Amino acid sequence: MFTIDTLCAALIQRRRGMCETRSSPDGKTLPYPAPHAPRIFADTAKIDEIKPLFDAGIIDGATTNPTLLKRAGAQSWDQAKDMMSEILRALDPFSVSLELTELTPAEMIAQAEELSRLGANAVIKVPVGGYAAIDKSLDPHTGLKVVRALWERDIKTNVTLIFNSTQALWAAKAGATYVSPFLGRLADYLYKHDLPERTPGNALYWIDDHKDPEEKEHTFNTEYVASGGARKDAGVRLIREIAAVFANYDIHTEILAASFRNSSQVSEVLLAGADILTIPANILTRVADHPLSEEGMVAFNDDAKAFLE
Ligand code: E4P
Repeated sequence: MFTIDTLCAALIQRRRGMCETRSSPDGKTLPYPAPHAPRIFADTAKIDEIKPLFDAGIIDGATTNPTLLKRAGAQSWDQAKDMMSEILRALDPFSVSLELTELTPAEMIAQAEELSRLGANAVIKVPVGGYAAIDKSLDPHTGLKVVRALWERDIKTNVTLIFNSTQALWAAKAGATYVSPFLGRLADYLYKHDLPERTPGNALYWIDDHKDPEEKEHTFNTEYVASGGARKDAGVRLIREIAAVFANYDIHTEILAASFRNSSQVSEVLLAGADILTIPANILTRVADHPLSEEGMVAFNDDAKAFLE
Protein backbone atom coordinates (compact mmCIF):
# COMPACT_ATOMS: atom_id res chain seq x y z
CA MET A 1 0.00 0.00 0.00
CA PHE A 2 1.15 3.56 -0.72
CA THR A 3 2.10 5.74 2.19
CA ILE A 4 1.46 9.47 1.86
CA ASP A 5 5.20 10.10 1.32
CA THR A 6 5.69 7.53 -1.42
CA LEU A 7 2.47 8.60 -3.09
CA CYS A 8 3.53 12.24 -3.10
CA ALA A 9 6.90 11.29 -4.60
CA ALA A 10 5.17 9.25 -7.30
CA LEU A 11 2.74 12.09 -8.05
CA ILE A 12 5.56 14.61 -8.40
CA GLN A 13 7.46 12.24 -10.68
CA ARG A 14 4.37 11.80 -12.87
CA ARG A 15 3.81 15.58 -13.09
CA ARG A 16 7.36 16.20 -14.28
CA GLY A 17 6.39 14.46 -17.51
CA MET A 18 3.48 16.83 -18.07
CA CYS A 19 3.41 20.17 -19.82
CA GLU A 20 4.00 23.32 -17.84
CA THR A 21 0.68 24.93 -17.02
CA ARG A 22 1.98 28.48 -17.56
CA SER A 23 5.54 29.40 -18.35
CA SER A 24 7.17 32.64 -17.26
CA PRO A 25 6.93 35.40 -19.85
CA ASP A 26 10.16 36.06 -21.81
CA GLY A 27 12.61 38.29 -20.00
CA LYS A 28 11.18 37.66 -16.52
CA THR A 29 13.74 36.69 -13.94
CA LEU A 30 11.15 36.06 -11.26
CA PRO A 31 9.56 32.79 -12.34
CA TYR A 32 5.80 32.49 -12.62
CA PRO A 33 4.86 30.43 -9.57
CA ALA A 34 4.83 26.67 -9.77
CA PRO A 35 4.65 25.69 -13.46
CA HIS A 36 3.53 22.15 -12.60
CA ALA A 37 1.01 23.37 -10.04
CA PRO A 38 -2.66 22.46 -10.37
CA ARG A 39 -4.67 24.44 -12.87
CA ILE A 40 -7.96 25.99 -11.81
CA PHE A 41 -10.93 26.10 -14.17
CA ALA A 42 -14.27 27.88 -13.77
CA ASP A 43 -17.18 25.44 -13.80
CA THR A 44 -19.69 27.71 -15.51
CA ALA A 45 -20.96 28.73 -18.95
CA LYS A 46 -21.68 32.32 -17.89
CA ILE A 47 -19.22 34.62 -19.63
CA ASP A 48 -19.95 37.35 -17.05
CA GLU A 49 -18.64 35.02 -14.35
CA ILE A 50 -15.69 33.75 -16.40
CA LYS A 51 -14.18 37.05 -17.56
CA PRO A 52 -13.54 38.69 -14.15
CA LEU A 53 -12.04 35.46 -12.80
CA PHE A 54 -9.77 35.17 -15.85
CA ASP A 55 -8.75 38.83 -15.70
CA ALA A 56 -7.83 38.37 -12.01
CA GLY A 57 -5.58 35.40 -12.90
CA ILE A 58 -7.76 33.08 -10.79
CA ILE A 59 -8.56 30.62 -13.60
CA ASP A 60 -6.66 28.87 -16.38
CA GLY A 61 -9.65 27.44 -18.25
CA ALA A 62 -13.33 26.56 -17.99
CA THR A 63 -15.70 23.62 -18.17
CA THR A 64 -19.26 23.64 -19.47
CA ASN A 65 -22.03 21.07 -19.76
CA PRO A 66 -25.63 21.14 -21.07
CA THR A 67 -27.00 22.02 -17.62
CA LEU A 68 -24.60 24.94 -17.22
CA LEU A 69 -25.37 26.21 -20.75
CA LYS A 70 -29.11 26.03 -20.06
CA ARG A 71 -28.56 27.84 -16.75
CA ALA A 72 -26.61 30.52 -18.64
CA GLY A 73 -29.67 31.10 -20.83
CA ALA A 74 -29.11 28.95 -23.96
CA GLN A 75 -32.43 27.86 -25.46
CA SER A 76 -31.17 26.16 -28.63
CA TRP A 77 -28.05 24.35 -29.85
CA ASP A 78 -27.14 27.41 -31.94
CA GLN A 79 -27.33 29.65 -28.88
CA ALA A 80 -25.30 27.11 -26.90
CA LYS A 81 -22.65 27.08 -29.64
CA ASP A 82 -22.51 30.89 -29.63
CA MET A 83 -21.94 30.86 -25.86
CA MET A 84 -19.24 28.20 -26.16
CA SER A 85 -17.50 30.17 -28.94
CA GLU A 86 -17.49 33.31 -26.81
CA ILE A 87 -15.90 31.46 -23.89
CA LEU A 88 -13.30 29.88 -26.19
CA ARG A 89 -12.37 33.32 -27.56
CA ALA A 90 -12.22 34.91 -24.10
CA LEU A 91 -9.92 32.22 -22.67
CA ASP A 92 -7.78 31.46 -25.74
CA PRO A 93 -5.34 29.63 -25.57
CA PHE A 94 -6.56 28.08 -22.31
CA SER A 95 -8.68 24.96 -22.34
CA VAL A 96 -12.49 25.05 -22.43
CA SER A 97 -14.44 21.77 -22.16
CA LEU A 98 -17.51 21.44 -24.39
CA GLU A 99 -19.80 18.48 -23.81
CA LEU A 100 -21.25 16.23 -26.51
CA THR A 101 -25.04 15.88 -26.62
CA GLU A 102 -25.32 13.19 -29.32
CA LEU A 103 -25.60 9.55 -28.23
CA THR A 104 -24.21 7.33 -30.97
CA PRO A 105 -20.53 7.06 -31.90
CA ALA A 106 -20.83 8.35 -35.49
CA GLU A 107 -22.94 11.35 -34.47
CA MET A 108 -20.76 12.05 -31.43
CA ILE A 109 -17.58 12.03 -33.50
CA ALA A 110 -19.18 14.39 -36.05
CA GLN A 111 -20.35 16.69 -33.23
CA ALA A 112 -16.88 16.58 -31.63
CA GLU A 113 -15.34 17.68 -34.93
CA GLU A 114 -17.92 20.49 -35.19
CA LEU A 115 -17.17 21.70 -31.63
CA SER A 116 -13.41 21.44 -32.20
CA ARG A 117 -13.75 23.85 -35.10
CA LEU A 118 -15.14 26.50 -32.70
CA GLY A 119 -11.65 27.06 -31.27
CA ALA A 120 -8.22 25.44 -31.02
CA ASN A 121 -8.57 25.46 -27.21
CA ALA A 122 -11.74 23.31 -27.26
CA VAL A 123 -11.60 20.04 -25.32
CA ILE A 124 -14.41 17.60 -26.03
CA LYS A 125 -16.29 16.35 -23.00
CA VAL A 126 -17.47 12.76 -23.37
CA PRO A 127 -19.68 11.04 -20.76
CA VAL A 128 -17.94 7.80 -19.77
CA GLY A 129 -21.15 5.77 -19.49
CA GLY A 130 -24.84 5.86 -18.67
CA TYR A 131 -25.91 5.58 -22.32
CA ALA A 132 -28.09 2.51 -21.75
CA ALA A 133 -29.91 4.41 -18.99
CA ILE A 134 -31.23 6.76 -21.69
CA ASP A 135 -31.99 4.03 -24.22
CA LYS A 136 -31.43 0.31 -23.57
CA SER A 137 -30.44 -0.23 -27.19
CA LEU A 138 -27.42 2.10 -26.84
CA ASP A 139 -23.98 0.53 -26.55
CA PRO A 140 -22.74 0.86 -22.93
CA HIS A 141 -19.18 1.30 -24.30
CA THR A 142 -20.17 4.26 -26.48
CA GLY A 143 -18.17 6.81 -24.46
CA LEU A 144 -14.94 4.82 -24.44
CA LYS A 145 -15.23 4.08 -28.19
CA VAL A 146 -15.69 7.78 -28.92
CA VAL A 147 -12.73 8.75 -26.73
CA ARG A 148 -10.56 6.25 -28.62
CA ALA A 149 -11.77 7.60 -31.98
CA LEU A 150 -11.10 11.22 -30.93
CA TRP A 151 -7.64 10.27 -29.63
CA GLU A 152 -6.92 8.80 -33.08
CA ARG A 153 -7.97 12.17 -34.57
CA ASP A 154 -5.74 14.16 -32.13
CA ILE A 155 -8.79 15.74 -30.47
CA LYS A 156 -8.40 16.34 -26.73
CA THR A 157 -11.06 14.82 -24.50
CA ASN A 158 -12.37 15.31 -20.99
CA VAL A 159 -14.14 12.13 -19.87
CA THR A 160 -16.94 13.15 -17.56
CA LEU A 161 -19.33 11.57 -15.04
CA ILE A 162 -16.52 9.56 -13.41
CA PHE A 163 -17.48 8.05 -10.04
CA ASN A 164 -14.84 5.37 -9.49
CA SER A 165 -11.21 4.73 -10.25
CA THR A 166 -11.86 1.93 -12.72
CA GLN A 167 -13.93 4.26 -14.92
CA ALA A 168 -10.98 6.66 -14.75
CA LEU A 169 -8.53 3.91 -15.68
CA TRP A 170 -10.56 2.82 -18.72
CA ALA A 171 -10.98 6.41 -19.86
CA ALA A 172 -7.22 6.90 -19.61
CA LYS A 173 -6.59 3.67 -21.52
CA ALA A 174 -8.92 4.92 -24.26
CA GLY A 175 -6.78 8.06 -24.61
CA ALA A 176 -8.52 10.67 -22.43
CA THR A 177 -6.66 13.94 -21.93
CA TYR A 178 -8.57 14.59 -18.69
CA VAL A 179 -10.87 12.56 -16.47
CA SER A 180 -13.51 14.38 -14.41
CA PRO A 181 -14.41 12.65 -11.13
CA PHE A 182 -17.58 14.23 -9.68
CA LEU A 183 -16.62 14.43 -6.04
CA GLY A 184 -19.58 16.55 -4.89
CA ARG A 185 -22.25 14.32 -6.40
CA LEU A 186 -20.56 11.24 -4.96
CA ALA A 187 -20.39 12.79 -1.52
CA ASP A 188 -24.05 13.91 -1.82
CA TYR A 189 -25.09 10.37 -2.78
CA LEU A 190 -23.14 8.60 -0.09
CA TYR A 191 -24.11 10.99 2.68
CA LYS A 192 -27.75 10.57 1.63
CA HIS A 193 -27.74 6.76 1.39
CA ASP A 194 -25.14 5.43 3.81
CA LEU A 195 -26.36 4.18 7.14
CA PRO A 196 -24.83 6.30 9.90
CA GLU A 197 -23.21 3.36 11.72
CA ARG A 198 -21.38 2.18 8.59
CA THR A 199 -17.89 3.19 7.63
CA PRO A 200 -18.49 5.77 4.92
CA GLY A 201 -18.62 4.08 1.55
CA ASN A 202 -15.97 4.55 -1.06
CA ALA A 203 -15.73 5.10 -4.74
CA LEU A 204 -14.02 1.87 -5.74
CA TYR A 205 -16.71 -0.11 -7.46
CA TRP A 206 -20.27 -0.04 -8.64
CA ILE A 207 -22.62 1.03 -5.89
CA ASP A 208 -25.20 -1.73 -5.54
CA ASP A 209 -28.54 -1.08 -3.97
CA HIS A 210 -29.94 -4.25 -2.42
CA LYS A 211 -33.07 -5.03 -0.51
CA ASP A 212 -32.79 -7.22 2.55
CA PRO A 213 -35.46 -9.84 3.42
CA GLU A 214 -37.47 -7.14 5.14
CA GLU A 215 -37.40 -5.14 1.92
CA LYS A 216 -35.47 -2.43 3.67
CA GLU A 217 -33.08 -0.69 1.28
CA HIS A 218 -29.36 -0.70 1.98
CA THR A 219 -26.49 0.71 0.04
CA PHE A 220 -23.32 -1.35 0.13
CA ASN A 221 -20.03 0.28 -0.65
CA THR A 222 -16.72 -1.52 -0.73
CA GLU A 223 -14.44 -0.54 2.11
CA TYR A 224 -11.90 2.04 1.08
CA VAL A 225 -8.34 0.75 1.10
CA ALA A 226 -5.90 3.19 -0.42
CA SER A 227 -5.81 5.92 2.23
CA GLY A 228 -6.40 3.81 5.30
CA GLY A 229 -9.78 5.45 5.62
CA ALA A 230 -8.22 8.67 6.85
CA ARG A 231 -10.56 10.96 4.95
CA LYS A 232 -14.23 11.35 5.67
CA ASP A 233 -15.30 12.78 2.32
CA ALA A 234 -15.92 9.98 -0.16
CA GLY A 235 -15.57 12.38 -3.09
CA VAL A 236 -12.17 13.55 -1.95
CA ARG A 237 -11.14 9.93 -1.34
CA LEU A 238 -12.09 9.18 -4.95
CA ILE A 239 -9.58 11.79 -6.13
CA ARG A 240 -6.93 10.30 -3.84
CA GLU A 241 -7.62 6.85 -5.21
CA ILE A 242 -7.39 7.89 -8.86
CA ALA A 243 -4.20 9.82 -8.06
CA ALA A 244 -2.75 6.65 -6.53
CA VAL A 245 -3.73 4.47 -9.51
CA PHE A 246 -2.39 6.99 -12.05
CA ALA A 247 0.85 7.45 -10.11
CA ASN A 248 1.20 3.69 -9.69
CA TYR A 249 1.09 3.17 -13.48
CA ASP A 250 2.59 6.55 -14.50
CA ILE A 251 -0.60 7.47 -16.39
CA HIS A 252 -0.44 11.04 -17.70
CA THR A 253 -4.17 11.62 -18.20
CA GLU A 254 -4.90 14.58 -15.94
CA ILE A 255 -7.28 14.33 -13.00
CA LEU A 256 -9.80 17.17 -13.27
CA ALA A 257 -11.68 17.25 -9.97
CA ALA A 258 -15.27 18.42 -10.58
CA SER A 259 -18.60 19.03 -8.86
CA PHE A 260 -17.41 21.07 -5.88
CA ARG A 261 -19.84 21.97 -3.13
CA ASN A 262 -17.63 24.01 -0.79
CA SER A 263 -14.17 25.46 -0.33
CA SER A 264 -13.04 22.80 2.18
CA GLN A 265 -13.30 20.29 -0.66
CA VAL A 266 -10.97 22.54 -2.66
CA SER A 267 -8.19 22.34 -0.07
CA GLU A 268 -8.75 18.61 0.51
CA VAL A 269 -8.62 17.84 -3.20
CA LEU A 270 -5.35 19.75 -3.53
CA LEU A 271 -3.90 17.49 -0.83
CA ALA A 272 -5.42 14.44 -2.50
CA GLY A 273 -3.43 15.01 -5.70
CA ALA A 274 -5.80 16.44 -8.34
CA ASP A 275 -4.08 17.97 -11.37
CA ILE A 276 -6.89 20.41 -12.22
CA LEU A 277 -9.88 21.67 -10.22
CA THR A 278 -13.01 23.00 -11.91
CA ILE A 279 -14.85 25.13 -9.40
CA PRO A 280 -18.16 27.02 -9.53
CA ALA A 281 -17.89 30.82 -9.66
CA ASN A 282 -19.62 31.31 -6.30
CA ILE A 283 -16.74 29.48 -4.59
CA LEU A 284 -14.03 31.10 -6.75
CA THR A 285 -15.21 34.63 -6.04
CA ARG A 286 -14.47 34.05 -2.35
CA VAL A 287 -10.95 32.59 -2.64
CA ALA A 288 -9.26 35.81 -1.51
CA ASP A 289 -11.58 36.30 1.47
CA HIS A 290 -11.60 35.04 5.05
CA PRO A 291 -13.23 36.64 8.11
CA LEU A 292 -9.80 37.13 9.70
CA SER A 293 -8.49 38.74 6.48
CA GLU A 294 -11.40 41.17 6.68
CA GLU A 295 -10.74 41.87 10.36
CA GLY A 296 -7.01 42.34 9.67
CA MET A 297 -7.63 44.69 6.75
CA VAL A 298 -9.97 46.89 8.77
CA ALA A 299 -7.32 47.16 11.52
CA PHE A 300 -4.45 47.91 9.06
CA ASN A 301 -6.59 50.46 7.28
CA ASP A 302 -7.51 52.17 10.56
CA ASP A 303 -3.88 52.30 11.70
CA ALA A 304 -2.70 53.55 8.30
CA LYS A 305 -4.86 56.64 8.84
CA ALA A 306 -2.16 57.79 11.32
CA PHE A 307 0.18 58.30 8.31
CA LEU A 308 -2.20 60.53 6.41
CA GLU A 309 -0.81 64.03 5.92
C1 E4P B 1 -17.75 19.68 -14.55
O1 E4P B 1 -17.10 19.44 -15.52
C2 E4P B 1 -19.06 19.09 -14.24
O2 E4P B 1 -19.91 19.20 -15.32
C3 E4P B 1 -19.63 19.73 -13.02
O3 E4P B 1 -18.62 19.94 -12.07
C4 E4P B 1 -20.82 19.01 -12.43
O4 E4P B 1 -21.10 19.57 -11.19
P1 E4P B 1 -22.50 19.41 -10.42
O5 E4P B 1 -22.49 18.12 -9.69
O6 E4P B 1 -22.52 20.59 -9.49
O7 E4P B 1 -23.57 19.47 -11.47
